[in-house]
Amino acid sequence: MTTIQINGKSMQVDAPETTPLLWVLRDHLGLTGSKFGCGMALCGACTVHLDGAATRSCVTPLSAAVGRKITTIEGVGATRVGKAVQTAWMAIGVPQCGYCQAGQIMSATALLEKNPKPTDADIDGAMAGNLCRCGTYTRIRSAIKSAAGMKGEA
Ligand code: FES
Ligand code: FES
Repeated sequence: MTTIQINGKSMQVDAPETTPLLWVLRDHLGLTGSKFGCGMALCGACTVHLDGAATRSCVTPLSAAVGRKITTIEGVGATRVGKAVQTAWMAIGVPQCGYCQAGQIMSATALLEKNPKPTDADIDGAMAGNLCRCGTYTRIRSAIKSAAGMKGEA
């Protein structure tokens, strides 16, 4: 058994330490908000936080998450910034199909935790690894600005 800290709770997992964290979350713990897109750190759908940093859980082995604070889309709304991001996302109606959106919210929250007033370039840099096949990028940028207390773009 391996013990990990997820969304403020200690959880036990019976899985090899090489198991990708995304598999642990989805298949072992039933936390299915984090999505599988590419499995190769190319799309961002599986993004979670490890000690606050946006991390691709599809290529992160369970062993790398031990002793670190894991936050997923199921828990990020309990933080002040995560709640602000989710509120802005809903107010602006960012999602289309929704598949990429958990990862987008996790990356946006990690950005605003580090940089409360990001420039467009900061946003583009932080969000570049999160792909959206529905093309919601303009609304994502607006929602990030709204969450940061700035005026968003239309
Ligand atoms: S599923 Fe992890 S980056 Fe695509
Ligand atoms: S909302 Fe459909 S992939 Fe982003």
